[in-house]
Amino acid sequence: MAVKGSSKVKTLWFCSNCGNEYSKWMGKCPACGEWNTMVEREAVTGSSTKRVSSLPSDGRKPVRLQDVSSTAEDRISLGSSEVDRLLGGGLVKGSLVLIGGEPGIGKSTLSLQLPLLRPELKTLYVTGEESVRQVKMRADRLGGDSSNCFIYSETLMENILSEAESIAPDLMIVDSVQTMYSQNVESTAGSVTQIKETASSLLRFAKESGIPVILIGHITKEGSIAGPKILEHIVDVVLQFEGENRGSYRVLRSIKNRFGSTSELAVFEMTGKGLREVENPSEMLIPMHEDGLSGTSIAAMLDGTRPLLFEVQALVSSAVYGTAQRSATGFDVRRLNMLLAVLERRAGFRLSQKDVFLNMAGGLKVSDPACDMAVVSSVLSSNFDYPIPRDVCFAGEVGLSGEIRPVSQAARRASEAGRLGFSKIFVSSYCKFDHKIEGIEIVKVADIPALVRALFK
Ligand code: TYD
Ligand code: MG
Repeated sequence: MAVKGSSKVKTLWFCSNCGNEYSKWMGKCPACGEWNTMVEREAVTGSSTKRVSSLPSDGRKPVRLQDVSSTAEDRISLGSSEVDRLLGGGLVKGSLVLIGGEPGIGKSTLSLQLPLLRPELKTLYVTGEESVRQVKMRADRLGGDSSNCFIYSETLMENILSEAESIAPDLMIVDSVQTMYSQNVESTAGSVTQIKETASSLLRFAKESGIPVILIGHITKEGSIAGPKILEHIVDVVLQFEGENRGSYRVLRSIKNRFGSTSELAVFEMTGKGLREVENPSEMLIPMHEDGLSGTSIAAMLDGTRPLLFEVQALVSSAVYGTAQRSATGFDVRRLNMLLAVLERRAGFRLSQKDVFLNMAGGLKVSDPACDMAVVSSVLSSNFDYPIPRDVCFAGEVGLSGEIRPVSQAARRASEAGRLGFSKIFVSSYCKFDHKIEGIEIVKVADIPALVRALFK
């Protein structure tokens, strides 16, 4: 036992966005670059603080790696094959999974739907946001079998963990981390300290009991409150829910996975009866209009291991006011500006006096550079009011000198496009294919002028 009095109380500053600690206040967090996110916290240092590890350590000793048996992790299957796939083949026992996303995106719906579709699993659903009756109403709407699902409306972590121990469920869901608090730390629910405490106590619980825990966390648009960024370091898996609130499509993305690959995605559609899995997202994201519309093209993106084809829409019109407007939905507006500058400088298209609007179909957020060629083609198509044939798609990155650069796994993108009925895919001339791709013509272009010649001849 440590001697009292040898401890010191020190003030620390915390970034409420990324969770980094500093010894003094700063206007801008050096780690994440956010302004005005520092919050003050008293930290007790010295010998009286007990070091709490996030893992149980009772009686364990270092072992030789070669002596560790390499049996596969024990996984349980959830009520959604898409979520199972994102997790790398089911939920690993004893793991802590964070589902993050903006309010209203469907986190509670998804996490309630999973146990209702798998009534074999005894589930404890802890809600700190809704009453038991509200959850019941939602469950009725979702359908499924609720006979093995326990609902517990509580926010005090100590009570939750003791109930969880006595019920011993196969799966526990905690909605949401921002509403939970522990008596061990003195601050309000939703603060950085409480969020860290809640997550680490759930991680300890999961590892000790072997019960997998799904934790829900809100991210606000402004990112101003202490949010899942801090949690990402603690949990085993982070699944992020994205999508425009207006549209009915939702994308669930794995951004961290200690037991599988990341940057996989699953597409869901929000219906009157909850979320529906969209097994072949490309078909949903491809246009449903007639031929002959200018300003649209199809990008062959790769997300994780799965190719995904979707529509890129652009509208180019003369700027009404002095300065041209540029707006992009689902695409980085700085990258759009870069692509427009390349079109202007390297290929002589005068776009500086034009408004340019860009939209990714289905509320997708895109970061794969392979979409550049489709963006450029849509912009040119709208500018010339010259439609691109519907059976053509693109996979190429555009470099600063106007060259088309090769993209990863071009062969997989091409064969997926062929399977979906496309007859041509445009790629970089530097793309190498080690085998012939059946059912689709591969058009190789070296730079933007070559792309323009091939498209609008
Ligand atoms: P919810 O899961 O409560 O979001 P979150 O937990 O991420 O805040 O979902 C909220 C939205 O989903 C709400 O606007 C209503 C809609 N919804 C449906 O369209 N169909 C349904 O069957 C359900 C349960 C919700
Ligand atoms: Mg909710």
